[in-house]
Amino acid sequence: MTTATTRTAPVIGAVGTAHTRVEGRDKVTGAARYAAEIPFAELAHGWLVVSTIARGRIRSIDAAPVLAMPGVLSVLHHGNAQPLESQYVGPMGTPDPTLQIFQHDRVPHAGWPVALVVAETSEQAREAAESLVVEYDLAPHDVAFADGHPGTYVPESTPRAAAEKVKGDLAAELDASAVVVDAEYTTPEEHHHPMEPHAATAYWDSGRLEVVDSNQGSIYVAQELAQLFSLDASAVRVRSEHVGGGFGAKGTRPHQVAATMAATVLHRPVRVVLTRRQMFSLIGYRSPTAQRVRLGADADGRLRALHHQGLNQTSTVHEFVERSADVARAMYDAEAHHTVNRVVRLDVPSPTYMRAPGEAPGSFALECALDELAERCGVDPIVLRARNEPAVGPVSGLPYSSRKLLDCFEVGADRFGWAERDPRPGLRRDGRWLLGTGTAAASFPTLAGPSTAAVTAEADGTFTVRITAADIGTGARTALTLVAADALEVSPDRVTVRIGDSDFGPAMLAGGSAGTRSWSWAVTLAARDLREQLALGGHVPPEGITARSDTTAAIGALPPRERHAYGAQFAEVAVDVSTGEVRVRRMLGIFAAGRIVNPLTARNQFVGGMIWGLSMALHEEAVRDGATGTHVAPDLAGYHVAANADVPLVEADWVDDPDDEDPVGIKGIGEVGIVGAAAAIANAVWHATGVRHRHLPIRPDRVL
Ligand code: MOS
Repeated sequence: MTTATTRTAPVIGAVGTAHTRVEGRDKVTGAARYAAEIPFAELAHGWLVVSTIARGRIRSIDAAPVLAMPGVLSVLHHGNAQPLESQYVGPMGTPDPTLQIFQHDRVPHAGWPVALVVAETSEQAREAAESLVVEYDLAPHDVAFADGHPGTYVPESTPRAAAEKVKGDLAAELDASAVVVDAEYTTPEEHHHPMEPHAATAYWDSGRLEVVDSNQGSIYVAQELAQLFSLDASAVRVRSEHVGGGFGAKGTRPHQVAATMAATVLHRPVRVVLTRRQMFSLIGYRSPTAQRVRLGADADGRLRALHHQGLNQTSTVHEFVERSADVARAMYDAEAHHTVNRVVRLDVPSPTYMRAPGEAPGSFALECALDELAERCGVDPIVLRARNEPAVGPVSGLPYSSRKLLDCFEVGADRFGWAERDPRPGLRRDGRWLLGTGTAAASFPTLAGPSTAAVTAEADGTFTVRITAADIGTGARTALTLVAADALEVSPDRVTVRIGDSDFGPAMLAGGSAGTRSWSWAVTLAARDLREQLALGGHVPPEGITARSDTTAAIGALPPRERHAYGAQFAEVAVDVSTGEVRVRRMLGIFAAGRIVNPLTARNQFVGGMIWGLSMALHEEAVRDGATGTHVAPDLAGYHVAANADVPLVEADWVDDPDDEDPVGIKGIGEVGIVGAAAAIANAVWHATGVRHRHLPIRPDRVL
């Protein structure tokens, strides 16, 4: 199958109808076991010890007293740990030395793993870990992130990602512009903190490494562990049945590596669970960003020049680029475009992908700048966006697979009541509250990763799907059940979907908003093949009949296009002028994001993203202390996230936008919900108060 136009109307029609989660009952009754809850005989518990200094060397680790403590089995550190493969390359094709734990005495940042204490019980391991004396030789550190840092550089472009893109003559177009907006925006360090902390149990079984984990892609973790421990890929199996949130944080992290090291030494299962506090330095986070946006336009708001530059921090051990400027490349037409993502290496933990990496902070800057331009031109913000709607990719020149951004604005404006809005700021008052409304656009790339799937017709008339998918709370297992049912033309209750086992073969991870699209593609192809085999008639043997698929060729044959999901975000805020408090009163998001497989869980995804946008706009900020290089209050008391009382009526809906390449018509909905949400709120705060807030979060002290 190499053509891109194979979508056929479903006969059963499970896709598109609301289904509760197939494992929902198990989850709410506690029958669903998460990684750290699964019992093992002879289980030992590892507790990580992380550095308390921001840079330097380990002078000594005094393991002897700790080894004498009750229940303690082992203390692993750089002096005794087994060597890891140093040529290890991460799933994104670049080396990631973040996983090279206990390989040297260097401390590159605060919270770096320096030892693992293993004991009979978790409590004993913790007690011993907290007693372990580690002495350091301190070296000076630099954790001061700011635009203008002398260490700033433009990273090398990769085949997947260009650091910089230039079209046209930016300076000339800015000179020719009647109106120029030139503004700087910042977003702080933000953390994912999935509800379920990272946890892995590793053990050896008949020469095979088995890991029971909580991750976004078991095949990725298996392949990475195989590389790191110089094992044959077939000698590693990773399972991840239920996952309590991921958001980009649940890839391969130091805890799986540490658990594997200890299981190898002790010849018994070893479990390592991260603490909430350790998660601040060990699982990645969203880098702070400093962005500059320059927009040059004619008097009517038609863009001539679009300049967006981003800066993010990365660690000294790993280069991670938060691609804030990328979102501009496909959003708005302009004669000249210049977009660049820059980085600076600091003595901080390695940042990573966090929901809508790049687009979340990037859209805040770009969509606020658009609002400033609308104000300057005296043009309605939605009209301004329509005026700059591109026919083809503004930089790439490629056609769009579909682009229903303006449909989203039209439906959203109607539902939100945008037509009645007086554009002048600072006019509406409700007691001590100033009221305002704002809008912003959203987009996120539509991706697909090669995947394999197997679908079995069982002798009892049911069907079993096997694919190394991950359900990180999104409802992916349920979505795949509906997709398989339609492809098999049977009722969903005859379909069992098994996921989260690397033995099921290569498949896309739950990331890049591409999980459901990628997996559904593979499941559909295998199911169709199976249906053809069954149509030939004959008896189903006891072991069943299995059809397999691999979408590598189909996805590789896709022609280059601009592929994105879109959305229009609306927010109404109230600003207390005496305390500086901002309260969001309502939010509405209308999305064009491909065919919606399960409206129930899809709405959850969109609303969840939008709430995160609210949280980003008003609450979230990890503060790093320059003197020590460590976080101030690294826990969920010190790191504020939006709580129920902060969240008003949040509505999400969508327009019909089936993709014409994916066999089910899916685009992907995981990340677009957060994109633009913070900008819509910031724009609403301006409308309420007449003051632009270009630095997140919009805290009371910044409002006053
Ligand atoms: Mo997502 S940040 O691609 O897991």
